[in-house]
Amino acid sequence: MRVLLLGAGGQVGWELQRALAPLAAITLATRQGDAGTSVDLERPEQMRDTLRRLQPEVIVNAAAFTAVDTAETDRERARTVNATSPGVLGEEAARLGALLVHYSTDYVFDGSGSAPWREDDAAAPLNVYGETKLAGEVLVRGSGCSHLIFRTSWVYATRGRNFLRTMLRLSAERETLSVVNDQHGAPTGAELIADVTAHAITALQANARLGGTYHLVAGGTTTWFDYASFIIGTASGLGHPLRLRQSALAPCSSRDFPSPARRPHNSRLSTAKLRSAFGLELPDWRSGVDRAIREICTT
Ligand SMILES: NC(=O)c1ccc[n+]([C@@H]2O[C@H](COP(=O)([O-])OP(=O)(O)OC[C@H]3O[C@@H](n4cnc5c(N)ncnc54)[C@H](OP(=O)(O)O)[C@@H]3O)[C@@H](O)[C@H]2O)c1
Repeated sequence: MRVLLLGAGGQVGWELQRALAPLAAITLATRQGDAGTSVDLERPEQMRDTLRRLQPEVIVNAAAFTAVDTAETDRERARTVNATSPGVLGEEAARLGALLVHYSTDYVFDGSGSAPWREDDAAAPLNVYGETKLAGEVLVRGSGCSHLIFRTSWVYATRGRNFLRTMLRLSAERETLSVVNDQHGAPTGAELIADVTAHAITALQANARLGGTYHLVAGGTTTWFDYASFIIGTASGLGHPLRLRQSALAPCSSRDFPSPARRPHNSRLSTAKLRSAFGLELPDWRSGVDRAIREICTT
């Protein structure tokens, strides 16, 4: 099986390199790659030419414009990377008879209520990033290609830019810190996303009807404040040098942290469809976060 992996240097892409390795020969396509395999999602038509040349059987797109606040002012770039290019990937996958695996976000929802969002609930993004990611989903589904779209949330890894690493850094620098306590979701490890992706690709080879859109997040939910508290408590317990004590962490409201992009209050995603279709258990968010902290703090 020939797999083309886009965004291989990102949080999820990096873990996909590991998780997909036993399944296939993987070609890594990055912006920085050599001429034959370099792919820039800001240049959809060049990307189309590369796909026609490489003729992958599976395209895994972990590349995205993920700077949520910057997207508010850099709309066109966000739209090209998050919507136009995934649409072209869909068209080319349909033409090649390839499977397209694509990732989306809890930010397609407006965050109202407190019930976990299901895949078929009405999407109504609050910010440009969410709008562009939703537009990308629509184009992938509309292309008619065989696809898997995984909506995930609050992604972390031991590398890259994420809340877990930011909290460890800030806790080493500061003695007080306020963190919002009115947004609910599930921190989800890039490792888990990559492992489930590999499993789902294998399952789809045996049963093409498993294609579609799925919510893929770790089990349980929390708030950014409780997540931060868990990070600081776990790192302190491991003897990691922190200036911030867990008791000095203060909860605050989203209103206290105005940002260019509005964030949804309720990012809870129901994973019932994914678990039942693929026969999976999704571990509680704490187990993956605990593991990542141990890896960061003990190496
Ligand atoms: N991070 C989250 O909290 C979160 C939450 C929900 C959903 N998601 C979704 O999950 C997926 C993976 O996210 P992630 O956290 O792994 O993202 P990430 O760590 O920010 O990585 C994004 C990757 O996309 C690549 N990329 C960006 N623009 C590109 C372009 N024009 N051409 C080629 N590559 C480009 C980046 O390459 P460079 O290294 O060259 O910049 C990087 O490798 C995305 O679809 C994202 O929307 C993420």
